[in-house]
Amino acid sequence: MIAPQPPAFLPDEDALFRVLRQLDRVPEASQRATAEALGLSLGKLNALLQAAQAAGFIRITDRDSTDRRQRFAYALTAKGGAEMARLADRFLAGKLAEYLALHAELTGQAAGIVTLKQRTEVMQNNHAPLPELYVSYDSALKLKHEAAALPSWDLTARQVCDLELLMNGGFYPLKGFNSEPDYNNVVENMRLADGTLWPMPITLDVNEAFAEKVAPGQDIALRDAEGVILAIMSVTDKWVPNKAREAEMVFGADDLAHPAVNYLHNQAGKVYLGGPVTGIQQPVHYDFKVRRDTPNELRAFFRKVGWQKVVAFQTRNPLHRAHQELTFRAAKEAQANLLIHPVVGMTKPGDVDHFTRVRCYEAVIDKYPASTTTMSLLNLAMRMAGPREAVWHGLIRRNHGVTHFIVGRDHAGPGKNSQGQDFYGPYDAQELFKKYESEIGVTMVDFKHMVYVQEKAQYYPANEVPEGCTVLDISGTELRRRLREGLDIPEWFSFPEVVTQLRKTSPARDKQGFTVFFTGLSGSGKSTIANALMVKLMEQGGRPVTLLDGDVVRKHLSSELGFSKEHRDINIRRIGYVANEITKNGGIAICAPIAPYTATRRAVREMIEAFGSFIEVHVATAVEECERRDRKGLYKLAREGKIKEFTGISDPYEAPTNAELVIDTEGTQVDACAHQVILKLESMGLIKA
Ligand code: PPS
Repeated sequence: MIAPQPPAFLPDEDALFRVLRQLDRVPEASQRATAEALGLSLGKLNALLQAAQAAGFIRITDRDSTDRRQRFAYALTAKGGAEMARLADRFLAGKLAEYLALHAELTGQAAGIVTLKQRTEVMQNNHAPLPELYVSYDSALKLKHEAAALPSWDLTARQVCDLELLMNGGFYPLKGFNSEPDYNNVVENMRLADGTLWPMPITLDVNEAFAEKVAPGQDIALRDAEGVILAIMSVTDKWVPNKAREAEMVFGADDLAHPAVNYLHNQAGKVYLGGPVTGIQQPVHYDFKVRRDTPNELRAFFRKVGWQKVVAFQTRNPLHRAHQELTFRAAKEAQANLLIHPVVGMTKPGDVDHFTRVRCYEAVIDKYPASTTTMSLLNLAMRMAGPREAVWHGLIRRNHGVTHFIVGRDHAGPGKNSQGQDFYGPYDAQELFKKYESEIGVTMVDFKHMVYVQEKAQYYPANEVPEGCTVLDISGTELRRRLREGLDIPEWFSFPEVVTQLRKTSPARDKQGFTVFFTGLSGSGKSTIANALMVKLMEQGGRPVTLLDGDVVRKHLSSELGFSKEHRDINIRRIGYVANEITKNGGIAICAPIAPYTATRRAVREMIEAFGSFIEVHVATAVEECERRDRKGLYKLAREGKIKEFTGISDPYEAPTNAELVIDTEGTQVDACAHQVILKLESMGLIKA
């Protein structure tokens, strides 16, 4: 029998790891104290410290002391923090190899990778502590101070989610944002450059202006939206990705109907930076603090309560009876305890917001047996990548200490593509997960779609419904319709407590805020129709109405902006931001900018649809007609070249293809045009007929 060999440790690397760890924990200690703590001679320690300094892992500074032995202070650098994380992995790999060798000797199994079935109970439980990327509190204070002088990147909401899971071990074994070789291999083969299974690129996308300021070899500070330094990244790679290839390979199609592909092309920066991350502090959360757990906190909890087997349920939706039935069955099938593990980072645009969902979860969690069920919130930014996402979810859940994972129908599905077809087959995710199950280290509990069987008054998997029985089901779209219109939601479908919570945040449509977003060429008639609409809505009363007209906004909100693509996008995002605030608070926002770019209009739509309705109205007056009217004399100036970048003349206008309403103003009175919008709002239930 050939036992797997532990990797040969370079003795110096082992010693270096110990020194870095000790300096991280006790950065201010004297050389003698450090040598004693490590059981090293002063000479050996000194040699290691010099080598670590030469490699940039530690900083040695003078301090005011007459005592020769206290003359120097030692501190870990960001690079040293990253090296410590890398060496911790080598250390663990050595221990695992020793364990596997022992396992092989005891069981007669010589395989390098022990398949799930061959695993012993001890290996099965995934409960050992996991390495994190944080340095100690003392080192963090020092690093934070130094990081203030580094070039700094303000993380996007998605990057904050990614960084949190990198630092706390949720994305173990990643040590930072993907390097270029890792990225390429992940995109093409679902593996890091060293062959480790990893299906999702985790990249730090930045704009070109920032990328120009940064070169590989440099450290940068990563800050949250409020400017708090969360981590330092030692940049090793900088490249311009082929986003079309990434979309094809990772999401299955370069189709903007896929939310992550849209994000990739229209929100993510053009340049990617890669490199290890040294964690300084966790992103701060003020909501549902006690329900949030790091992978190590969950592992510790499972150890404490003695849960050997845990099956996790991933969700981005409120829990209804079908979910409860499914999770009960899964726990029974796997003979495991249950972790309800909802995502509260970023989910699919248009989903129920996480505040409402968590209140729903809290309302039903006591319908589960407390001794075998727990709930924890996961701050993951989903990509809706179906099969690849399922494998990724499995790895993330393994890191959170679970042994089993539920993969249902259309796991992490993105909806329909631009041809109206599903991006992935309903059970593709289960197939891919099954293929990699052993490497993921988590057993899949696969489930078919659950439906309610009327005659039996209980839920069944769709493929096990007794013959001749009546199947009842309510889709997500139908549920949203019923909530919007204040219609009945039957007891067989959901719990009254959940429905109450959902109704609180989904008031009847005629009580909700909404945004009417006019778009069209200059002089198309947007402002005039918008004004008429405002007056009509004010006449009806009930909700406050605000008009954000293109010209007015440019005077008060965007006076410093010009008409380049970049400035127009900023202008529209500002309008979107204000309209979103109004909509969120139950008011009516009427916007009337040109808004020439599809992607920017879509970004505003997605933002607003999280809180209310968004009605895009294309005022489709042809450019010839606008020019003929030339109410402001601008077309003449544009033709003479006196106004540059003029929409429709020397600048593009991307006409909407999916507007809720298209208005042809030629030969139609303003009043009638505004009335068309009123009729549309009535038909959508947003105002009372
Ligand atoms: S954008 O693209 O949405 O940011 O434009 P917007 O803020 O709506 O434009 C408001 C008005 O600016 C005048 N104007 C121009 N329009 C287009 N292109 C160029 N270069 C330009 N320069 C000035 C124009 O009158 C717009 O007003 P409306 O109400 O559309 O006629």
